Amino acid sequence: MAGKIVVFANQKGGVGKTTSAANLGAYIAEKGKSVLLIDFDPQGNLSSCFGVSRDAPGIYEVLSKQARLDEVVRKTAIEKLEIVTANINLTGANVELIDQRDREYFLKRILDPLADRWDYIFIDCPPSLGLLTLNGLVAADFVLIPLQCEYFALEGLSLLLQTIQRVQQATNPGLKVGGILFTMYDARTRLAHEVVEEVTGYFKDKVFRTIIPRNIRLSEAPSHGVPISRYDAECVGAKSYELLSEEVLRRV
Ligand SMILES: Nc1ncnc2c1ncn2[C@@H]1O[C@H](COP(=O)(O)OP(=O)(O)OP(=O)(O)O)[C@@H](O)[C@H]1O
Ligand SMILES: [Mg+2]
Repeated sequence: MAGKIVVFANQKGGVGKTTSAANLGAYIAEKGKSVLLIDFDPQGNLSSCFGVSRDAPGIYEVLSKQARLDEVVRKTAIEKLEIVTANINLTGANVELIDQRDREYFLKRILDPLADRWDYIFIDCPPSLGLLTLNGLVAADFVLIPLQCEYFALEGLSLLLQTIQRVQQATNPGLKVGGILFTMYDARTRLAHEVVEEVTGYFKDKVFRTIIPRNIRLSEAPSHGVPISRYDAECVGAKSYELLSEEVLRRV
């Protein structure tokens, strides 16, 4: 069976896309599934999470046909977890793709032939609804939407959902919303409660039950180049991502 392609998308910045892709990928790999992470953000944050150099060829070189995907796949400290890096060059892809016919299909064409080499491929999108995110949505089987538990979290969500619907209608009818996941939850604030209640009331079983709390250890791990499971497996952030990974495995 071909691997499942999962894209982490939300055009809002700093909501936990990269942190979720990194840690869920790591836990799922530790549970024995093979996972390929694709850093699809010119910021290259996902690459940094694993301490791999962003200078070597990565996804940009594949998009621009200077390399093949299998030539740029790199190992991480975790067995069964591999990564394709990104760096600032990837901003160029936005510009270079724009005049191409089929500009939304580039990533799909790269992934499809090799997708069955992994159980899961996770794509970490940049904070925009531009061509990179569109390529991610067109290539994916599932989209996961991290939401920060704060007021502005909801602004932009309807635009993202409209974009997903457009992609479903026009280019990728197989795309499913795998779930909405709450990140950086602060139990002390009333607002966080309210956001969770409102979104859950509306999206019901599309919402993952496991909520990721705000936890400083999660923000520290990337500077050590390891996921939370290898940095502090006992902290509440680690426990939450581990639980969430089980839910993700049941759903996607
Ligand atoms: N649960 C959490 N608790 C505390 N800090 C967190 C948590 N999740 C993420 N962070 C931190 O918040 C910041 C934003 O998270 P992250 O980079 O994962 O968001 P993003 O959506 O990928 O951002 P961007 O839109 O810029 O790509 C990072 O510094 C990260 O370490
Ligand atoms: Mg990110």
